[in-house]
Amino acid sequence: MNRIVFFALSLSVLLALFAGVEAMPALSKRTSASDVKAYLAAHNTFRAKHGAAALKWNNTLAAAAQKEVNRCVFKHSGGIFGPYGGYVHVLTPNAENLAAGTGNFKIEDAIRSWTNEAPQYNPKSPVPSHFTQVVWKGSKQVGCAIKECSNIFDAKYGVAKFYACEYYPAGNVIGYFPKNVKV
Ligand SMILES: *[C@@H]1O[C@H](CO)[C@@H](O)[C@H](O)[C@H]1NC(C)=O
Repeated sequence: MNRIVFFALSLSVLLALFAGVEAMPALSKRTSASDVKAYLAAHNTFRAKHGAAALKWNNTLAAAAQKEVNRCVFKHSGGIFGPYGGYVHVLTPNAENLAAGTGNFKIEDAIRSWTNEAPQYNPKSPVPSHFTQVVWKGSKQVGCAIKECSNIFDAKYGVAKFYACEYYPAGNVIGYFPKNVKV
């Protein structure tokens, strides 16, 4: 069910391409303090086990995440495919992780669906994944959002909780895995 699209493009190339494009305005609806805590705790507990410093919350990233999930389309939007088939956003140079689940699919469950990819990572042959973005040492900030969507899965499965997290600076940059991902 997870449709996974990865991101990998040098940040400098991206900035060069999109210099002058303004960041999207922050949305008025902000993530609740308890949700911010849950997103950060789930990321940072896991990052600590992989030698990565704690991420800080960034409301610009959260607004970008909200804009993404508000579409209720389980697919990355508004960006371009880079030279490695990776994906980056046009408006903000963020990397993005998406997750959707039905029932009581909590923040922790969404982030676990990403960190569960850890065993598939082979440092000798690094491949971008949700896991590698979560633990990417070079990413310093995160912002996430949720939206309940009725059209993501077949109606018989019920309403989906759709999550997006945006990371800055973007991780999953080809050539930089050994430096940024510790197993
Ligand atoms: C928040 O993230 C954006 C990237 O979307 C970045 O441009 C901005 O500098 C960050 N804000 C802070 C306070 O670091």
